[in-house]
Amino acid sequence: MIRIALDGPGGAGKSSLAKELAKRLGIVYLDTGALYRTVGLWAKMNDTDPKDADKIGELLGKLNIDVKIENGAQVVYLNGEPVGDKIRTPEMSMYASAVSALPCVREFLLETQRSFARTNSVIMDGRDIGTVILPDADVKIFLTASEEVRAKRRLLELQAKGIAATFDEVLSDMHRRDTADASRDIAPAVAAADAVILDNSDLDTEGTIEAALKIIEDAVK
Ligand code: DC
Repeated sequence: MIRIALDGPGGAGKSSLAKELAKRLGIVYLDTGALYRTVGLWAKMNDTDPKDADKIGELLGKLNIDVKIENGAQVVYLNGEPVGDKIRTPEMSMYASAVSALPCVREFLLETQRSFARTNSVIMDGRDIGTVILPDADVKIFLTASEEVRAKRRLLELQAKGIAATFDEVLSDMHRRDTADASRDIAPAVAAADAVILDNSDLDTEGTIEAALKIIEDAVK
């Protein structure tokens, strides 16, 4: 069994890296941001302010989230329905960030995340995997890059999905969200003291994968 924690800010390329590492290492990949996005979607579906702790707490009582691996890919179910790409919009990024600052939401999603790592060799990407979810992970990587590089990557991702946005909008949304995620009281998005920081501002996809594989090899030898 190996458990790899991959944390870092938005647009660093965590999910592409995690997917590729999972494939090469033959382990399961869990994208934990998708769970917060699903709670955000539930808030939106119920016309609820994602910062309203009391109302969100009540809504959690009517929410069932299931995660399944189907054909090698993660599928998240909200009350039995797959959420698909509905959670991938810029609006849902902001909703996810807002609900993720609420203790009741973090508590609600804790067991789903931990139970995955109990039964599988996993790589989990998120913000607090190395600090809170898997504090005793075998390997902890904090993947980051300059804000401009991350915003450029995020813009390309959005454009590929046909979502219109400008560089300045993406940069300011990203800055706002990362600042909120890193400065919240509960489980702030910061590197664990024992994480290896991997800055991939000047690395391409393959270079990032190789650097991460080296960190993993060094950690488990
Ligand atoms: O990785 P992402 O962009 O899909 O994450 C969406 C939001 O969820 C992000 O703003 C912070 C939050 N999040 C979190 O607080 N903890 C995690 N483990 C994963 C995501």
